[in-house]
Amino acid sequence: MIGLDVAEAVDARRARRVLSERRVEDEKVGTLVRAVRLSASCFNNQPWRLVFCMGQESLGTVKGALAKGNTWATRASMIVAVAAKVQDDCHLSDERNYFLFDCGLAIGQLELQATELGLIAHPIAGFDPLKVKAVLGIPEDYTVITLVICGYPGTDDSLLSDKQKEAETQRPERRPKGENIFLDRWGSSLA
Ligand SMILES: Cc1cc2nc3c(=O)[nH]c(=O)nc-3n(C[C@H](O)[C@H](O)[C@H](O)COP(=O)(O)O)c2cc1C
Repeated sequence: MIGLDVAEAVDARRARRVLSERRVEDEKVGTLVRAVRLSASCFNNQPWRLVFCMGQESLGTVKGALAKGNTWATRASMIVAVAAKVQDDCHLSDERNYFLFDCGLAIGQLELQATELGLIAHPIAGFDPLKVKAVLGIPEDYTVITLVICGYPGTDDSLLSDKQKEAETQRPERRPKGENIFLDRWGSSLA
């Protein structure tokens, strides 16, 4: 799936859960790293810290920290732990702390790049963050924001719940635009 334009990649990206065990090639890992590194960040602070878990030991121990609902992720051939701390990025008035925002931008870019490469890159919140920190040696003062579950698409959906199987084939519905996209003034709808 190389050569998607951005709109195609936006359409094709999905939080898919049926993975194969095929390893992600080093060259593709390099392309994902590039997508993260070139992402925008406040004052170019680049607050993200990423641990690419690809070895059997790190992958195995991180998989041991997954929530039960994320059993599907145990087939991943790569998991990227994303950590950051508030002090590493802009903090402005009104509690505008940009470290989480900037990590989100970088991972959004990684997700689109992964899609173009024919990979699944699915961020999750369902894991034990303290366990992940401990097994990967992430310093205490960092927050493990997400694990990005990565790999090639597979065919065996036996690790998915019925709800997850349904989501696999159909993108979960979005809120009506009138609820969160406004024109000129809060609450007035765009179209
Ligand atoms: C911050 C974040 C946390 C998420 N946590 C989980 C999770 O723990 N388990 C899971 O299966 N999906 C998780 N997802 C995937 C979302 O459920 C999915 O993106 C959403 O339903 C929209 O579907 P789509 O991405 O395929 O369009 C998470 C997504 C994000 C961005």
